[in-house]
Formats: sequence, structure tokens, C-alpha cells
Amino acid sequence: MNGLGEPLDCEMFEKGLRTRRLGKKIHYLSEVDSTNLYARNLAEEGGLEGEVVIAESQSRGKGRLGRSWVSPAKRNLYLSVILRPKLSPLHAPQITLMSAVALAETIQSFIPLPPEIKWPNDILVGGKKVAGILTESSCAADRLFFVILGIGVNVNFPREEMPESIRDTATSLMTLSGALVDRTALALQLIQNLDRCYGDLEGHGFPAMAERWSGFFRLQGKRVKVEMMDQDVQGKAIGIDGDGALILEDETGTRRRIVAGDVIPLEPGR
Ligand code: BTN
Repeated sequence: MNGLGEPLDCEMFEKGLRTRRLGKKIHYLSEVDSTNLYARNLAEEGGLEGEVVIAESQSRGKGRLGRSWVSPAKRNLYLSVILRPKLSPLHAPQITLMSAVALAETIQSFIPLPPEIKWPNDILVGGKKVAGILTESSCAADRLFFVILGIGVNVNFPREEMPESIRDTATSLMTLSGALVDRTALALQLIQNLDRCYGDLEGHGFPAMAERWSGFFRLQGKRVKVEMMDQDVQGKAIGIDGDGALILEDETGTRRRIVAGDVIPLEPGR
């Protein structure tokens, strides 16, 4: 068990890992700009599928939509995985959704409260964000070379240490469970669940994964606003389609696919 501020137990992590593809090679870093950037460089130089980059802190942690990810040392989990899925670039969002399922299933086993997925990739508990996913791909028109799957989880991050900008919207597993969480055990479980879900996606296809995803999506049938780069839209959240796009229905019954944006609930989830 790691105490507050103790490093990850790399030896236990490597010894405990039971996976088919992920984590055969692990790069531990005490500090990095961003594990996603580091993993991308590795992938560009031939890094293999399943290589994991895990850091104790990030000086330039990246969030979605150009935001930053607060990454203090030895509090949380910051990791990136190189994946080389046999998917067309169009289907790359399936990897994000698969990862959200693996992440939600992992978080569920560490706290006594139900996690929820906020499309496409935030994990919330009690309406506050506890983890996020940033997938970045490298592709040609018809070929996906690799996907960098980056995951950040707020683990032992006390509210008083959070910058004010996120204090009211973010939470951590420690705050939710009322006790320190073993970051090594969490990392181990997360990589194992990702390995299993990645295999499930390949073996059983996206519809089966989308059904599991929907089990964590509490805004189905609820009115939401989606803030996009150039405009905001409102409607009823119907669910996701075969490519992982969010389907919104407006008052006239017209359905619209949303591929990127921020979802804001206009009524409580189920
Ligand atoms: C988001 O919710 O906006 C996505 C956050 C993703 C953060 C993780 S931390 C590990 C990996 N490296 C990064 O720079 N970002 C991701």
C-alpha cells in the first residue's frame, strides 16, 4: 500500500500484472512533460502495442480541447498506452469509449459510489470529475498507425490541494472513499481492465461494448446542452451510434450526430 506522497511500487506493478497485450513493457518516469507526448515519441520510433508510460508527475499534462490536466507529484495516476488497433481511422473513437468502460469498471471497484460516464470520456462521481481520457491518433486517410490512450485519475488529491479552478468541479477517489487509495493497485487493475476490454472490443465488436458503455451513461433520454467549438446545441440525449458519436434529438424529432463537444446536463441524470 502506498502512503500519501509515496511513489508507485514498480516491482509489485510488474510482478502483479496479468495481461495478454498491455504492459509487457513499462516506462516509469518520475517527471515528464506529458505521458501522451512521451508515448507518441516512442510510437513514432517504433514503440510496440501495449507499451505503457506512467509518470509520478507531469509539467504539461494535457486535457481535451486544449485544456491542461493538473498533475501534482505522487498524488494521482498519469499514464498513456500505445495501441495499434486494426480499425479504420473513422472507428478510432471506439477506443476512447472502450477505455471509458474499463476506467469506470476500475473506479467502481475502489469506491462505494457508482461512477458515471459523461460523453465522451469523463468519469464523474456524484456530478464531479474524477478521471479523464485523452486519445490522440496518428493516421493516414484510410489507415490508423497508432492511438495514444492517455488516462488521468485523481486518486489521493485532497480538495485543499486542488487549484481553485477545479476545486468545485473535480473530486478524487480518496475524497469519495474517505481513505487513501493504493495507486499501485489502482494502476494494476486499470491496465488489466483495459487489456480485457480491448480484447472484448476486438472479439465481440463495438455494439456489445456500446451496451456496457450505456450502462454507465446516466443522461440517456435527458435534456442536455452540448458546447461545440463553433456553436451550442440542445436536445434529448439518445445515446451513441456505431462510431461513438452522441445522438441528440431536438424538439422536432430531428436527430443529429455530435462528434466532439462538452455535454452539460439540463436535468438530473437517472
Ligand atoms: C480530459 O478529461 O480532458 C482528459 C485528461 C487526460 C489526462 C491524462 S493524464 C495522462 C495523459 N497525459 C496527458 O498529458 N494527458 C493524459
